[in-house]
Amino acid sequence: MREFFYRMLFLGILLAALTNFLLMAQGDPEAAKMKNPVAATPESLAAGQALYQRYCAVCHGKNGLGGSGSDISPPAPNLTDAEWKHGSTDGEIFKVIKEGVPPELSMEPWGDRIKDPDIWNVVNYIRSLAKK
Ligand code: HEC
Repeated sequence: MREFFYRMLFLGILLAALTNFLLMAQGDPEAAKMKNPVAATPESLAAGQALYQRYCAVCHGKNGLGGSGSDISPPAPNLTDAEWKHGSTDGEIFKVIKEGVPPELSMEPWGDRIKDPDIWNVVNYIRSLAKK
């Protein structure tokens, strides 16, 4: 009986880890289809940079290299490297910024504060960081 319990517990943990992996480590195929409607002009990058410095730099760092986190927030990922936990396309990045990363929402949704065209400006700006 006891052994059965432990076996089930182990299976449960394994299943939870697997589900978590499938849910979190994948991008969003629907969002990935979204096309960036805003060209990465100097104006777009400047607008994106201003918004980034205002809203995002506190957590992701002034240059997008990521942050160490705090008591109440986990470390914010580097946005200049090739690793994108929630998808690497413009559309997926757009969705992460607009809707946040559930369920914790340590990465908050910004859709209520930043309008769509400006979110695309931020996407363009983040992209420009990666090229350096
Ligand atoms: C309070 C801290 C905080 C602020 C402010 C913040 N973020 Fe985040 N961000 C995070 C954390 C933490 C994660 C990781 C979430 C996860 O994976 O569960 C994240 C994840 C992301 C990701 C996904 C990265 C990947 O690897 O897929 C992007 C893109 C992003 N943030 C962009 C932004 C932008 C743009 C802003 C400003 C509009 C912003 N963040 C503001 C904490 C923050």
